[in-house]
Amino acid sequence: MNTKYNVLVLGSGGREHALSWKIAKSNLLKNLHIAPGNAGTAHLGIQANLSVNDFEGIAKYCEKEGINIIVVGPEDPLVNGISDYFAEQMPNVFVFGPNKNAAQLEGSKDFSKQFMQRNGIPTAAHKTFNSNEIKEAQQFLETLKPPYVLKADGLAAGKGVLILNDIEEAKLEVLNMLQGKFGAASQTLVIEEFLDGLELSYFALTDGKNYLLLSEAKDYKRIGEGDTGLNTGGMGAISPVPFANNVFKQKVIDQIVEPTINGFKKEDLNYVGFIFFGLINVDGEPKVIEYNCRMGDPETEVVIPRLQSDLLEAIVLSKDKLLNEYEAEFSSTACTTVIAVSEGYPGSYSKGIDFKIAKPAPANGVYFYAGVKVEGHNEVTSGGRVVACTAWAENAQDALFWSYKMIDQVSFSGKHYRKDIGKDILK
Ligand code: AMP
Ligand code: GLY
Repeated sequence: MNTKYNVLVLGSGGREHALSWKIAKSNLLKNLHIAPGNAGTAHLGIQANLSVNDFEGIAKYCEKEGINIIVVGPEDPLVNGISDYFAEQMPNVFVFGPNKNAAQLEGSKDFSKQFMQRNGIPTAAHKTFNSNEIKEAQQFLETLKPPYVLKADGLAAGKGVLILNDIEEAKLEVLNMLQGKFGAASQTLVIEEFLDGLELSYFALTDGKNYLLLSEAKDYKRIGEGDTGLNTGGMGAISPVPFANNVFKQKVIDQIVEPTINGFKKEDLNYVGFIFFGLINVDGEPKVIEYNCRMGDPETEVVIPRLQSDLLEAIVLSKDKLLNEYEAEFSSTACTTVIAVSEGYPGSYSKGIDFKIAKPAPANGVYFYAGVKVEGHNEVTSGGRVVACTAWAENAQDALFWSYKMIDQVSFSGKHYRKDIGKDILK
């Protein structure tokens, strides 16, 4: 491969910093652009002040800068049809991310449940109801055992899933959701069987025909230690996951990954991009909780550093549906990340607080910025999740030692982080 590419990464979080950091190392890269980016990505490429959903603005920018490839970080632009927009308006720009129809795997729980059913992919039993079926939905609850899992069909900023023990409360929430508690997102409701087990996620890239399985990761979603308190975007992650042994991994490939990719082919979904399999391990059996049409955040910050080979090359090969030619190389080291968040997160929090890191990251680590922006000559906080302290080492315990050493060097008023990342599964 001799051609070099101008690449635009869309997004502004730790995930996009990690993707940009990896792509910046590629021999196939001409110039890297990031929109809108953050204080961390500012050191890696050209920042463009564009919103990820401003397709017209992005198209004009691509034209002006000669962008060849767009790598989409978050789900929003995918669910809104950025791939379709470029396929119609600027087909010479390759968008690495599924089209609007395929992105429904994340954008609609009902779509993804039906896809899994058609393709024999293990998942929780479920039933879908619309706003004319409130009685039926409440009656259905009576046929189930608690806890009751209620899911808004559409995207609800990570808040659309309720897990309730009390049937009366569940019936009331059925009513609230179908009457639009989460807006249009919950006017269709999925009620499903509760699955008991440890959660983890697998990540892959696909060109719609072939796939490249990346490593698995486990993230820590709750704000409080011991997995207590409110859900967040993720407070830390580790990869690999000790309980995901070879037997489990083979089940994931045979029962989930391959049937999913085959489903794309059979159903002509033309899915190109990253795919995130959110799984639960129920007594050694993997079941799908959700698909996402993007990488996870903070999982990207531990999965991407473990990929030794060139990520951009895999993306370029996907463009021509030749991902099967890619020679992937993975590091055998463990990788961990611990996130420093703003005081008050995931509730309301202040922004614009002075942010400093006392010492550069060690050779076996990297700070992936999430909510940090440049203001004048300073760096200040600009989000709930502020920085991901990623480190790698021979084993996860050692990597965590370094992640925590790194977080000690981070200062901003109100810094908060979980001190128990990995503790539950590393014995
Ligand atoms: P989702 O948005 O579908 O990933 O759901 C959010 C979270 O709710 C998941 O990460 C799980 O922790 C939990 N969850 C979702 N579905 C189930 C289920 N069927 N059984 C148990 N927990 C679930
Ligand atoms: N960390 C979970 C997610 O990215 O959805």
